[in-house]
Amino acid sequence: MNILYAASEATPFAKSGGLADVAGALPKALVKDGVDCRVVIPLYEDLRFKDELQYITNFGVPVGWRSQYCGLFSCVKDGVTFYFLDNEYYFKRSGLYGFYDDGERFAFFSRAVLEMLFYLDWNPNIINCNDWQTALTPVYLNLYYRHLDKFNHIKTVFTIHNIAYQGKYGLEILEDTCGINARDAHIVEFDGCANFMKGAIECADKITTVSPTYAREILDPWFSHGLDGLLRQKQYKLCGILNGIDTVVNDPATDPNIPANYDAETFPEGKALCKKALQEKFNLNQDGSPVMAMVSRLVGHKGVDLVRDIAEGLIDQGIELVVLGTGEYAYEAFFSDMAARHPGRVGTYIGFNAKLAQEIYAGADIFLMPSKSEPCGLSQMVACRYGTIPVVRETGGLRDSIHDSGDGYGNGFTFANYNAHELYEACWRAKEGYWKHDGWQILVKRAMECDFSWDVSAKSYEGLYNEVVSLW
Ligand code: GLC
Repeated sequence: MNILYAASEATPFAKSGGLADVAGALPKALVKDGVDCRVVIPLYEDLRFKDELQYITNFGVPVGWRSQYCGLFSCVKDGVTFYFLDNEYYFKRSGLYGFYDDGERFAFFSRAVLEMLFYLDWNPNIINCNDWQTALTPVYLNLYYRHLDKFNHIKTVFTIHNIAYQGKYGLEILEDTCGINARDAHIVEFDGCANFMKGAIECADKITTVSPTYAREILDPWFSHGLDGLLRQKQYKLCGILNGIDTVVNDPATDPNIPANYDAETFPEGKALCKKALQEKFNLNQDGSPVMAMVSRLVGHKGVDLVRDIAEGLIDQGIELVVLGTGEYAYEAFFSDMAARHPGRVGTYIGFNAKLAQEIYAGADIFLMPSKSEPCGLSQMVACRYGTIPVVRETGGLRDSIHDSGDGYGNGFTFANYNAHELYEACWRAKEGYWKHDGWQILVKRAMECDFSWDVSAKSYEGLYNEVVSLW
């Protein structure tokens, strides 16, 4: 089976968030299983491994009434073929998104994904699009390509990684920029706006999201950012598949970024060395207290406000706190201030630093992830793999991957409602657990042995793809 995985970012080439991890790792797992999965992303200015790309050809892509240049490059990484679509006017900029013309940039990209197929000696059975940046591909396929031999058997899957970002613009961009005329506008029109994600929800053969719980949550207005009614209509084609993590990159037994390597058998010694190194790095007391950590964007929906509310209480309980992240100024200032007021107890790093993140996953005892909503979340799985016990709110993928250890079987501590008291209670239970030394070691081992590899999730995608190709 041939799958074209269209995304706006993919590791190891370009990354701003979890989508890149998925677009890097899922195709690799599918290829390992014999699926011919290829990935297509824009050729950004900051792309890594640029000097390894091979030029294939160039062609014109319709953007409204204009035709824009598109270069096609490719590169094979870990057995996966990646295609890169080049247009310097759209992509030779620093950063991936956040520009005034993002709508036009990704309308171009979504259309170029289809145009490129004329120039490849390869045809996908399915195009799997991801998030609003590639949401117009299924729309264009239905409007302009369906009647062509090369395209009439192609099916589409649309994966929602986060429904908060829908690609919403004024209706005026439809005709001139997107090339969608008034007669067809209803396909992408929603609530008085052009909404790219809405177009994909209408046109894709299947809609997936990144955890079973999130697939149910987005049918509820509290989570759906306005799209629940539409999704309830399309529920027959909606399902959730939990993401995996790259267990080769995230392996404490081989990770070159951490001070000592360890596995589920040898962790007590190796993890203790990592903890000591982390405490030294942040000048923490090393008095035997548990280290709680947060590696996150410091924004509201990650639950940072709850952590802020209980931070003093945690310190009073003798916990050491380490925070790594960037985001809203108020949170950055709060945690910097905490570190200044509690030397030896709190360590804060404002910024993103991939190596330090791994050191924290390895060196901390407890990992905080009290998100307000979390479509899947990858950090809680990475934390488990490094033997750092997650405290999470029961939402989205957090609910599907972390189970409370109260019953003696789980791999973390969970709480249901979004309030600081419940988070505090879960942290308190985690701290009590930590002091029960033998029980804690059993819990750590159990968390490390959870199978969050893509092998499991890739099988679910294969099942889904088989179902989609058999649709008439
Ligand atoms: C988005 C979601 C996150 C998910 C990731 C990969 O970033 O917010 O929960 O893990 O996509 O699917």
